[in-house]
Amino acid sequence: MPFAPCVCIGIFLLPWFPCTWGKCIFDQVQRSIKVVSPPTGQYASAHWSLRETVSAENPASRSFKHKREQRHVESMADSQPIRIKTWIPSESPVLTESERERLMSAVNDAVNKVSNLLSVRRVTHSLLLNRDINKYCKFIWRNSSTVNHKKCGRANENYRFESCLGVIIPDEHLNGCAVYPHPEYPVPSVLRPKGMGVSETDFLLYVFTHNTDKCRAESSILAYAAHCQTDSEGRPLAGTMIICRETLSMERYTHEHFVQTVIHELFHVLGFSKDHFSRWKDCSLSYQAGIDCWSHGQVTSTDDMGQFRLYSPFVIREMQKHLNSTHTDLGAPLENKDAGSDGLSSHWEARVLQGSIMAALLVEPSLIRIDPITLAALQDTGWYSVNLSRAQSLVWGEGEGRQFGSVSTCHNSSTFFCTDSGLGCHYLHFHKGECLTDQYLDGCHIFKPLANASECWKEENERSGMDEWNGEIYGSDSRCFISNITRLNNATASTPVAGHCYRHRCTGINKYQIQVMDSDWLDCQAGKSIEVSGYQGFIFCPDNRICKYSDLLPPTSRQKANELLNASTYIESSDDDVMEKDRSTPHSSFMSRSFVTVSKAKVTVAAVLSIMAAYSLLSTGMHVYRKCLSVRVRVHAANELSYRQQMAPIQCISRK
Ligand SMILES: *[C@@H]1O[C@H](CO)[C@@H](O)[C@H](O)[C@H]1NC(C)=O
Ligand SMILES: *[C@@H]1O[C@H](CO)[C@@H](O)[C@H](O)[C@H]1NC(C)=O
Ligand SMILES: *[C@@H]1O[C@H](CO)[C@@H](O)[C@H](O)[C@H]1NC(C)=O
Ligand SMILES: *[C@@H]1O[C@H](CO)[C@@H](O)[C@H](O)[C@H]1NC(C)=O
Ligand SMILES: *[C@@H]1O[C@H](CO)[C@@H](O)[C@H](O)[C@H]1NC(C)=O
Ligand SMILES: *[C@@H]1O[C@H](CO)[C@@H](O)[C@H](O)[C@H]1NC(C)=O
Ligand SMILES: *[C@@H]1O[C@H](CO)[C@@H](O)[C@H](O)[C@H]1NC(C)=O
Ligand SMILES: *[C@@H]1O[C@H](CO)[C@@H](O)[C@H](O)[C@H]1NC(C)=O
Ligand SMILES: [Zn+2]
Repeated sequence: MPFAPCVCIGIFLLPWFPCTWGKCIFDQVQRSIKVVSPPTGQYASAHWSLRETVSAENPASRSFKHKREQRHVESMADSQPIRIKTWIPSESPVLTESERERLMSAVNDAVNKVSNLLSVRRVTHSLLLNRDINKYCKFIWRNSSTVNHKKCGRANENYRFESCLGVIIPDEHLNGCAVYPHPEYPVPSVLRPKGMGVSETDFLLYVFTHNTDKCRAESSILAYAAHCQTDSEGRPLAGTMIICRETLSMERYTHEHFVQTVIHELFHVLGFSKDHFSRWKDCSLSYQAGIDCWSHGQVTSTDDMGQFRLYSPFVIREMQKHLNSTHTDLGAPLENKDAGSDGLSSHWEARVLQGSIMAALLVEPSLIRIDPITLAALQDTGWYSVNLSRAQSLVWGEGEGRQFGSVSTCHNSSTFFCTDSGLGCHYLHFHKGECLTDQYLDGCHIFKPLANASECWKEENERSGMDEWNGEIYGSDSRCFISNITRLNNATASTPVAGHCYRHRCTGINKYQIQVMDSDWLDCQAGKSIEVSGYQGFIFCPDNRICKYSDLLPPTSRQKANELLNASTYIESSDDDVMEKDRSTPHSSFMSRSFVTVSKAKVTVAAVLSIMAAYSLLSTGMHVYRKCLSVRVRVHAANELSYRQQMAPIQCISRK
């Protein structure tokens, strides 16, 4: 572990922002879960028609590919934004008001974001989870020529409940189970009746807040998750997310830290998981769920450097686009540092896909991108239809060619990697940076945000006097520029080259002007350097970073956009129309989305409450808003009661 010392230095330098805040233990957790699928034979119509794997690169298949893409658009027309319901188990500890608010606003923001990105063929009736036959059953009929083949012959008297990562699944969410005492007699005796299921839900997320052993073992873990149930096509239907309770009251973790963590873990449980890679299917020609899908074949293998890559069609296409390479063998590399014994990891390689939401180490929230390659991977699962134009530009490595990020090239100085321990700018230019490495970078160095006051867009980072001699200006329109300018009237010797904050304004794509203290606006030609009158030294104007990506905004402007609560879009949007909601306000839809409301009446109540909350927010602000929150809690408590009653242990005795 040659890089461990650097990591420790990183932690000391960044006391309120540990470099490993987003450590993810998903693979470790998922490995311990036995995933339950519907009993075989139950969905006889939903069979796979496995065909020959069609090579996406094969020119002969191009017209086929084209047809496929066209039909893809048509056939996915019936998919709609995924409805993710969250359920708080009754055994959850009682949270304080602020903990609960933090938790629910983060979970709801993340859920809204993900529903906005992924569409599914919706579950038509209520979502019902399955019971594990190996748990409730002691004996299964094995004679294939009998009527009750593969059905349960004798109940397990010790059977109590189904659980998901330690959370007890309520009976009302579960299918029934039955025993067939005779191999030929088709009438069963019911062990547990069928539950009502969860209406209008495509994925059920149990959210449990607790300071578990795993949380205690690793202070940088905010949350972890696993899925426990899939449908007959392998699509995950339910999972649990454990939120580490202590982190909810830690000031160093912001709302955005939690949102990014929950999105990351949600992507894992929805299918971005190494256990699922081999089950991903191409369903682009499918008109009906499960029919006409075929396997991608083997989607993971090593490249010529020995790095495992994910080779699925959309991922390859997006990698080619991203790196501007026509190379046909350009899969997305998987992280080698947290790979299991199979060589696979459920994270992207940090050297190549730095800043991606699915990299192993989550960086500062404002620097995390929901990138096209991650969305392409979710598309390639075959379960989701993804509008790739909703991806955020990754920026990292864009157009750099297929060798980008390899251990052999990262030591050559480039605009993304640095070679020594100098000072510069983070590659998005919002932050001043320091050339550092971490445990996932295999010795490559990149500019990471400075420990202190590195944000150019934060006015409060301006230190009086200190910045004056190199002309720095902090503020929402300031960016980091590498420079060594010093005021001419200062006797001090020349400044070393480092990152400095200056104002900028766009004059076109990749065209901008900058302003340093007491200067006019000066054209800063991308890729060139300029001098400023009154100063000695140069400012270097980065190419393809500034005024190129319209979706790159510093957190301040994003917060402002969030604060612009637009009442009309909020109230008018229907429950299904998550896209609009996502843009309105973080709290826009918590009521109807936060809890599984089993009856229609309760859904209506919740919807009315959310409209009330909107008006309250607008008219009387936070005070009334809090009141609405407690109303919401009461709605939930009502549910909880009935849930508790159901929790009374039911003996698994067959009723004849
Ligand atoms: C399986 O069931 C059939 C029909 O009941 C019976 O004829 C056959 O002997 C059984 N086979 C075995 C191996 O028990
Ligand atoms: C994809 O998303 C973009 C941006 O949100 C939208 O303009 C476009 O209509 C969407 N395309 C489809 C096919 O839904
Ligand atoms: C992609 O590469 C080609 C040839 O290598 C080059 O002409 C083109 O400008 C590049 N495009 C981008 C967007 O970098
Ligand atoms: C990168 O560095 C390696 C040696 O470290 C050298 O062989 C190679 O030519 C360099 N590539 C570029 C593009 O400078
Ligand atoms: C960083 O912050 C710490 C604590 O606030 C302070 O002591 C230290 O001087 C700061 N370092 C710089 C470079 O500003
Ligand atoms: C010159 O710059 C240094 C930088 O720290 C500053 O301390 C000093 O006061 C400046 N001198 C003048 C004359 O501006
Ligand atoms: C600024 O840096 C450039 C390039 O490294 C160097 O040529 C120049 O002498 C430096 N100027 C000052 C004033 O330090
Ligand atoms: C709210 O949205 C409407 C229509 O989309 C727009 O006309 C109005 O200006 C918006 N209000 C605010 C405060 O953004
Ligand atoms: Zn992860």
